[in-house]
Amino acid sequence: MSSGTARRLEGKVAVVTGGASGIGASTVRLLHREGAKVVIADIQDELGRAIAAELGPSDEQHCVFVHCDVTKETDVRDAVDAAVSRFGKLDIMFNNAGVVDPWKPSIRDNEKSDFERVLAVNVTGVFLGIKQAARVMVPARRGSIVNTASVSGVHGGVASHAYTCSKHAVVGLTKNAAVELGEHGVRVNCVSPYLVKTPLTEGFFKPKPGKGGDGSKKPTQMYTNLEGVELEAEDIAEAVLYLGSDESRYVSGHNLIVDGGFTIHNTGLNLFG
Ligand SMILES: NC(=O)c1ccc[n+]([C@@H]2O[C@H](COP(=O)([O-])OP(=O)(O)OC[C@H]3O[C@@H](n4cnc5c(N)ncnc54)[C@H](O)[C@@H]3O)[C@@H](O)[C@H]2O)c1
Repeated sequence: MSSGTARRLEGKVAVVTGGASGIGASTVRLLHREGAKVVIADIQDELGRAIAAELGPSDEQHCVFVHCDVTKETDVRDAVDAAVSRFGKLDIMFNNAGVVDPWKPSIRDNEKSDFERVLAVNVTGVFLGIKQAARVMVPARRGSIVNTASVSGVHGGVASHAYTCSKHAVVGLTKNAAVELGEHGVRVNCVSPYLVKTPLTEGFFKPKPGKGGDGSKKPTQMYTNLEGVELEAEDIAEAVLYLGSDESRYVSGHNLIVDGGFTIHNTGLNLFG
């Protein structure tokens, strides 16, 4: 438990897309620990089922897995309906599923098919998640939608063109949806993680000499200046927990950047270091 004795999501129901691995899996565990009933929606059936079995013993069923490809509207609709039919409602929708394209340094070498695949999962998937969550949250006049963006939604040059474009889009979609859905009592926010070690980021950042590439820093600390902390998936889960809970009841349209100061730090000009 994160703080105190009262569980912070007691009685809440959540759907987590991309919940079978990495940030999503950590978030599933934390939301569940804080009292939420959780639907894991992912394309990795074996991993998703294993987490659901670990957290939701068959006599209680507080965590279930649903196969869901977020690029398919019927799958996303079914995941939301699973939350309503099994647990009675939907309070938190975490649109987190995401992919990267193979790293090719020049746009001249980028494939259109890779670009479109990244946008299909990272943007269309989030759009469908917001749409289907709104379908049940608007009539209930409450709910919290959280999307996973990235520091690549703020900065250029941190990831591929497709990925950077997709995460900027998630930030924009978050703001637009927050404006519309706020009138119905539904909040929409996003989290923007810096580099977290997950299957998605294997081989993602190329260490440069002088930036810790000599082995003096762990990959996840290489470009931040916050000393003594290494970002982990659990840190992102804590941000989602806050945005999903009533503790953030007046926070909407916000991009909660979890990056140890990476995006406010110009490594080209640093008067302090
Ligand atoms: N790891 C990082 O450093 C980092 C930084 C910023 C943002 N992010 C974002 O965090 C989110 C989670 O990534 P992660 O690092 O935990 O990676 P991950 O690969 O561990 O998890 C991504 C999950 O999304 C699922 N997924 C992929 N395509 C899907 C689809 N079409 N439908 C449903 N599920 C699908 C995968 O099966 C996987 O379980 C992504 O949106 C990613 O872009 C990650």
